[in-house]
Amino acid sequence: MSRNITRVGVVGGGQMGAGIAEVCARAGLDTVVCEVDAVAARAARDRVAASLERAVRRGKLAESAARDTLARMVFTGSLDDLADRQLVVEAVIENPDAKTEIFAALDKIVEAEDAILATNTSSLPIMRLGMATGRADRVVGVHFFNPVPVLPLVEVVTSLHTSPETVDRVQDFATGVLGKTVIHSRDRAGFVVNALLIPYLLSAIRMAESGFATAADIDTGMELGCAHPMGPLRLADLIGLDTVASIAESLYDEFREPLYAPPPLLQRMVEAGLLGRKTGRGFQPTTRAEDLVRRGLRGTRPPTGVRVPARRHRGRAGSARAALPAPSRTRTPQVRPVAPRTPQVRPVASAHASGPVLRVRHLTIRMTDALLPFDAPRRRLVGAAGSSRPPGGMS
Ligand code: CAA
Repeated sequence: MSRNITRVGVVGGGQMGAGIAEVCARAGLDTVVCEVDAVAARAARDRVAASLERAVRRGKLAESAARDTLARMVFTGSLDDLADRQLVVEAVIENPDAKTEIFAALDKIVEAEDAILATNTSSLPIMRLGMATGRADRVVGVHFFNPVPVLPLVEVVTSLHTSPETVDRVQDFATGVLGKTVIHSRDRAGFVVNALLIPYLLSAIRMAESGFATAADIDTGMELGCAHPMGPLRLADLIGLDTVASIAESLYDEFREPLYAPPPLLQRMVEAGLLGRKTGRGFQPTTRAEDLVRRGLRGTRPPTGVRVPARRHRGRAGSARAALPAPSRTRTPQVRPVAPRTPQVRPVASAHASGPVLRVRHLTIRMTDALLPFDAPRRRLVGAAGSSRPPGGMS
C-alpha cells in the first residue's frame, strides 16, 4: 500500500527538512521541497546538494545517483506546488502557530482524499495540528532524527483521531521505502526519545552553567565514559540550541516538571544567536578542523570554543565564550582577614543565610552549599560576616 506513495512534499528545507527530502529522493520518490520564498528554496537545494556531494566523496553514492537524486527534486517557494502530493511532511521550526497555520493551508491545498499530512515536530501535540484540518484521521507524527541520512529511527506518533490505516501507511512507508526502523508513541510532548533525551541535555547545560565541570569535560565524560557518539553539549549544538529550548518549553508546558525547564544559560545563548552548528557557535567548536584537533587531544585538556564557565580560562581572547556574560566576577572571594584565624562553625544572619557557615581563615563557606544540587554553585564564598554575596555563574 505504501508503495503507492511516490509523490512526497516536504515543508521546510532546513537541517531536518533537507535531510528528510534527501532520503525520500534517494529512495526514488518524486520530491517537492517548499520553503518560504525562492531564496530560501535555493538555500535548501544547496543544503541537499552539499550532503549528496559529501556522500559521493565518502564513496557511499555514485555521482550519477547523486545527479538523479537532485533531478527528482523540485524546490519551491509556494505551498500550492504541493497540491498533487500523496504525503506531505512538515518540518518547519518548532513554533505551534507556524505549524498550525501550515496544516490549515495544506488541508485546503493538498487534493487527494487519502493524502497524509505528517509532521516532523519534536514535541508539539499532533492533535492540535490535526484539529487545524478537516482530516485529523490522516494527520500523524513522523519524527526523524538528525542527521536524517545517517540515523535509522523514525517515531510514528498517533493522535486520538489518527486512523489505523494512516499509521499502517506511514509505517510501511518509513520501513519499506526509506529503510528506517519505526517505534510508536502516543501523542505526549517529547514522544519517546525527546522525553528521555532533553532532560539529559538540560542537565548537562545546568552542569556547565554552574561551573561543576567544563563543557569539554562533560562531553568527553559521556563520549569516553559511556561510549556516546557525541557528548550532550555537542549534541545540543548539533540539534540547535533554539530547537532544544523549544522542545524543553513544550515538555515543561505539558508536564510542569522542573527537569524540563530550559536553564537560563540556554535561553541567553538562544537570545544571543549562539545556536550551535547552524550559526557556527554554541557550546563546542563547530568546524570539522576544530573537532579533529579536539579529538586528537583527548586525554589532555582539549581546546574548546565555549567553556562555560571555566574560571581558570576566564577572559581568554578569541573565545566564543567572550560573547557570553562574564561568569565569575561575583564569585571572586574578597580576601579580608577576620579573627579568629582558627576554623570554627558559627551561624550568621544575612539576606542569603540559609544555614551555618564555616569560617576558614579569611573565607566564609556556607555549609548548606555542599547539599545543593549541581545546578547551584558548589561553594558560595562570602567575605566578612554580613557581606554575603549572591551566587555567581552565568546569567
Ligand atoms: N549527512 C550525511 N551523512 C553524515 C552526516 C550528515 N549530516 N554526518 C555524518 N554523516 C556520516 C558520515 O558520512 C560517516 O559515514 P561513513 O562512516 O559511512 O563514511 C558517518 O556519518 C560518521 O560521520 P563522521 O565520521 O563525519 O563523524 P562522526 O563519526 O562523529 O559521526 C554523527 C557524526 C553521525 C553525527 C555521530 O556523531 C552521531 O550519530 N551523533 C549522535 C547524533 C544524535 O544523537 N542525533 C539525534 C539527535 S535528536 C534528534 O534529532 C531529534 C530531535 O527532535 C531533537
